[in-house]
Amino acid sequence: MSYKSSCLTAAFGATLLTIGVLAGTGASLAQGEVNLYSSRHYDTDERLYSDFEEQTGITINRIEGNADELIARMEAEGANSPADVLLTVDISRMVRAEEKQLLAPVKSVVLETRLPAHLRHPDGLWFGFSQRSRIIFYDKARIETPPLTYADLAKPDYKGLICARSSTNTYQIALLSSIIAHEGEEAATNWAKAVRGNMARAPQGGDTDQLRGIVSGECGIAIANTYYFARALRSDVTDLSASIDRIGWVFPDQSGNGAHMNISVGAVAANAPNRDNAIKFLEYLTSDSAQKYFSDGNDEYPAVSGVALSASVAKLGLFRQDAINLSTVANNSTKATEIFNAVGWE
Ligand code: FE2
Repeated sequence: MSYKSSCLTAAFGATLLTIGVLAGTGASLAQGEVNLYSSRHYDTDERLYSDFEEQTGITINRIEGNADELIARMEAEGANSPADVLLTVDISRMVRAEEKQLLAPVKSVVLETRLPAHLRHPDGLWFGFSQRSRIIFYDKARIETPPLTYADLAKPDYKGLICARSSTNTYQIALLSSIIAHEGEEAATNWAKAVRGNMARAPQGGDTDQLRGIVSGECGIAIANTYYFARALRSDVTDLSASIDRIGWVFPDQSGNGAHMNISVGAVAANAPNRDNAIKFLEYLTSDSAQKYFSDGNDEYPAVSGVALSASVAKLGLFRQDAINLSTVANNSTKATEIFNAVGWE
């Protein structure tokens, strides 16, 4: 192991939350286990994992961290990586892992029949298990005519009203990446510049903070993923749920490309020591019970069609999704970051 790799490993030890036993190869390579490197950041996923353990008798050892850390860790570990499954909350990071050849192709009739083609890699390198839409929220008391499209957000009518996350956020990058794919680089640059110019405050906070900004009166319009809003409908989110009736929502581009979707995505690691268990875990994620859990437990949209939505997610209503190939979106990530930097979207 190089000096650099050693440093990386030490740094990860300090920043990653390790659940389960991964010390030494004996425990992690034993039959009946699967080592899951996950950047899903939801406490409510516990039941998703425990149900799998109960159904199969396979123990899940979880290593949690942000996707960049997990990918760098897999790279540093190389052929000796104990990682069996990588889970990320966005396609761009998964494509990065793909480019670094950290993923192994999987041929599974279950995965191919359960998941629609646009949510999985053509050669089985990754599979999307749940979806969220990145949409427009607005203050019903302040905004008489809300934006109906992403392009509308760039209109001068909305000057000083928009709140959004920083340009380093993966959801924000994916949205601009999709705009590049649909409209081209020049239009995407003009859009990012105008939206930044329409902001009520400098980009800051998470998606929930954008929604809180509407409740506090600081923001007239917010860009956020659906599941943060649905969660605040379902449970008590501080400084949001009590006044959530004030917030209206628009699924953008319903007469055009459809609302932008981002996915939570999983893959089997290139050097997975427990490959069969890894595939079993991915197949389990497409079961009706697991798919229902993505909606009931985490307010996401199931990837498998026909699975019932939770009451809070169903309340958002039916909408037309952008079915653009997600690899195309992910491949524009670097360009999206360049555009954000060029227009001063911090
Ligand atoms: Fe999130």
